[in-house]
Amino acid sequence: MPDRFSLEVNGQAHSVETDAQRPLLDVLREELSLTGTKYGCGEGACGACTVIVDGEATRSCITSIAEVDGRRVETIEGLASGVELHRVQQAFIDQSAMQCGYCVPGQIMNAVALLRTEPQATGEQIVEAMDGNLCRCCNYRNLRAAVEQAAG
Ligand code: FES
Repeated sequence: MPDRFSLEVNGQAHSVETDAQRPLLDVLREELSLTGTKYGCGEGACGACTVIVDGEATRSCITSIAEVDGRRVETIEGLASGVELHRVQQAFIDQSAMQCGYCVPGQIMNAVALLRTEPQATGEQIVEAMDGNLCRCCNYRNLRAAVEQAAG
């Protein structure tokens, strides 16, 4: 029997009736039509599904809807203010940090979470924080340059 869960996503309150174990990723994509967050491995290993929950970078494929009940979720769709991109999004464009682009929403959300706690993160902190976000195109040099630009 489904339960009902309440969460705030990108500043908007939502109430979702679903199975308690259903991954947050599925709820975002299938119930709320927020398809910017991507499915990669489904096992918490690639970072494609990264969102921010109460300020913390979180892998939404291994986070159940029950775990985010009453919490605040941010996705890639909520970052820009109207037509003005978030500075991390702009840095990804400036540094050509996208090839196929599939991993980019997760990369950006992870970088945003890092720079909120470490606005001037060092190169070492960036490498360490971004380590678990994989890019199959291996565009790591540009990805790192983008996060460095945003931190600069
Ligand atoms: Fe969630 Fe890979 S899809 S970490």
